[in-house]
Amino acid sequence: MEGIPQRPKHTAELLQEILQRTQALPNEGAVANYIPALAKVDPNHLGIAVAELDGKVHIAGDAQIPFSIQSISKIFGLTLAMERVGDQLWNRVRMEPSGHAFNSIVQLEWEHGIPRNPFINAGAIVVADTLVSHYSSSRAALTQFIRNLAQNPIIFVDEVVWESEREHGARNAALAYLMKSFNNIEANVVDVLDHYFYQCAISMSCVDLARSLGFLANRGVQPGTGEVICDPRSTRRINAMMSTSGMYDQSGEFAFTVGLPAKGGVGGGLVAVVPDYGVICAWSPKLNSYGNSYRGMFMIRQVAEELGLSVYS
Ligand code: DON
Repeated sequence: MEGIPQRPKHTAELLQEILQRTQALPNEGAVANYIPALAKVDPNHLGIAVAELDGKVHIAGDAQIPFSIQSISKIFGLTLAMERVGDQLWNRVRMEPSGHAFNSIVQLEWEHGIPRNPFINAGAIVVADTLVSHYSSSRAALTQFIRNLAQNPIIFVDEVVWESEREHGARNAALAYLMKSFNNIEANVVDVLDHYFYQCAISMSCVDLARSLGFLANRGVQPGTGEVICDPRSTRRINAMMSTSGMYDQSGEFAFTVGLPAKGGVGGGLVAVVPDYGVICAWSPKLNSYGNSYRGMFMIRQVAEELGLSVYS
């Protein structure tokens, strides 16, 4: 009927429309600058990709430009560690929302060096410790794991970002040494931090990220290759923790407004898992005060609403 906007027929058209809607909004927030190398990114980048389980990938905007995945790397590290060490991991890191910033230290002392969950920095550092302790080269193992998931052999680490993380990683070092004092770090702290900084500095595009995380929407089986990455119990657990803690102190709001397991990083990337459908990844570098991408959240919310994707509906 005239005057009533027609809903786009195809996901690709929908993504283009959402991109345009997003470009029309003020580009609010600020690029992460506590790691100087991250501050150099063009704040106007905007991209989105949807990878469906049948192999279709829909894109709009800067979806094929690699960016610093930062905390989204915590999903890859966690998956690898869960497969490698099994349930022992849960003696060293819990699965509760923290109610604090991603890099907060206060709770860690009260709670005897056991981080609240694997998606805050302290938890990801414990996960990094298990990888360093269980692989002869944890960095090579993680890179290989990610390249294989994304089916992209040229995924790389941005050495400038890695070095910048090292130089400006005092707070992460404080978290790691505090946990070492509680005997919750086994390996050498410098090696553990080096692994953590390395994984944060991996560069991937929205397409790479959406494709690589398909197993989370598919009960552990990677779409396309059919490879079993982990068992369905693990994907249920990872998705559950992404829902409760992946967006840090904004996880409740994200569940309320979008209703999908999600994980953000201070590079401005944001991934959301839609069980039995696929993975959405959005990128826009400017962040809100929680460290989540402003326009990334807007775009994923729009996709979820238009396609009716909430897991709670
Ligand atoms: O640990 C840090 O400070 C960063 N390299 C990663 C943090 C991050 O992406 C938090 N997410 N919003």
